[in-house]
Amino acid sequence: MPEDKIETRYAVIDPSHMDEALMADAGRLIKEGSLVAFPTETVYGLGGDALNPASSRRIYAAKGRPSDNPLIVHIADMDHLPAIVTAIPEKARLLAEACWPGPLTMILPKADCVPYETTGGLDTVAVRMPSHPVARRLIELGGGYIAAPSANLSGRPSPTRAEHVREDLDGRIAMILDGGEVEIGLESTIVDFTEEIPVILRPGYLNRARLETLLGEVRMDPGLIREDPRIRPKAPGMRYRHYAPRADLTIIEGGREAVTRTINTLTAEAEAAGKSVGILTAEESAVYYPKGDVRVIGSRASEAGIARHLYAALRDFDADGVDVIYSEAFDLPEMGEAIMNRLLKAAGHKVIRV
Ligand code: TXA
Ligand code: MG
Repeated sequence: MPEDKIETRYAVIDPSHMDEALMADAGRLIKEGSLVAFPTETVYGLGGDALNPASSRRIYAAKGRPSDNPLIVHIADMDHLPAIVTAIPEKARLLAEACWPGPLTMILPKADCVPYETTGGLDTVAVRMPSHPVARRLIELGGGYIAAPSANLSGRPSPTRAEHVREDLDGRIAMILDGGEVEIGLESTIVDFTEEIPVILRPGYLNRARLETLLGEVRMDPGLIREDPRIRPKAPGMRYRHYAPRADLTIIEGGREAVTRTINTLTAEAEAAGKSVGILTAEESAVYYPKGDVRVIGSRASEAGIARHLYAALRDFDADGVDVIYSEAFDLPEMGEAIMNRLLKAAGHKVIRV
C-alpha cells in the first residue's frame, strides 16, 4: 500500500492542442517526486522522476509491484541517452534511429546516475523514447528522464484508457492525464543489447522479422518460447503472472470449426455448473456462439484493432463478473507473436489444442 490515500487530480488533455499550464503542473509534480499517469502510444504509463530513488520507490508502492522488477526510463531526446548509459552499441544506435520515437525499449549498461531503485538492482537500464505528444511533453517538463511502468495495479491488464488507470490507481497517485484511447494497446518490444546478438525479451508491435531486416540476426529469449514456460524469461517482469483478468482464462486453439464447437461445449458445461462464461472472439466467428458473454475484439483482417482492444476486453470481463473465459487463439501474421505472448500469460499458459 502507498503511505496514505491522496487526492488524485484527473485532467483531460487534447494531444493535438495541449494545455500548457496543465502540462507545466504535471511536469512540476514529477520534479517534486510525485507520480503522474500519462498516455503513450503503447499503454498508459505511471511516471516518476527516473533519477530520484524516492520516486521509483513510490511507483512500486502505488502499483503493489515487487521491487526486483525494473522500470523503463523514458526519454524525449536522443541527446539525453549518453548520460544514463555507459555504452551505445552500433546496432542499438541503428535501431534507435529507425524506430525512435516509437514502441521500442532497449536494454543497455547503466550509468551511475541511474539509481538501483529504478533498475530493480540491475546494472543495466531499459530505455524507451515514446512518440505520443503528451508523453514527450511530460518528459521534457519533468526533467528529461521519466521512469514509467504500465499504469495498472501489479497483475492486472495494462491500461489502454485513462478510466483503466483510475480504476486501479485512484487515491494512490498525484495526477492522471487523460489523452484518450492509446493507439497500439500492447507494451513496447524490449530488445537486450548487452549480448553480441540482440535478444527480444518481450515481443511487441515491432516484431522479430522487422527487427531482423534492420539488424540482421535477432534472437528470442528462450523464456518466451511458448512450448516451454518453465525456462525463466530474462526480463524480470515477464516471469510474473501478468496481464491477467480475475476469471480463469483458457485458450482454445485450432481450426475455426473445431474451436467454436469446443468453446460451445465447454460453455454449456460451465453454465450447467452454475458458472458465468466469457468468450473472447473476433468478428469472423462471433455468430457461432449462441451463449455466453461474447466479446468481439475486432476483425482478424485488422491486427491493430485486435491488439488495441485485448486488454480492455479482459477488464470488461472482470467488470461483468464472469467466472471463466474461453478465448480463441490469435496467431496473426504481424502482431500474433505479441498478442499470443500476452494472452498466454493471462491464461497462465492453459491451452487446449483441438
Ligand atoms: O510500452 C511500454 O513499454 C510501457 C509504456 C508505459 O512505456 N511500459 C511498460 O513498463 O510496459 P512495465 O514496467 O510494465 O514493463 C517493463 C518490462 C518488465 O518486464 C521489466 O522486467 C523489463 O521491462 N525490464 C526493465 N528493465 C530491464 C532490464 N534492465 N533488464 C531486463 N528487463 C528489464
Ligand atoms: Mg506492466
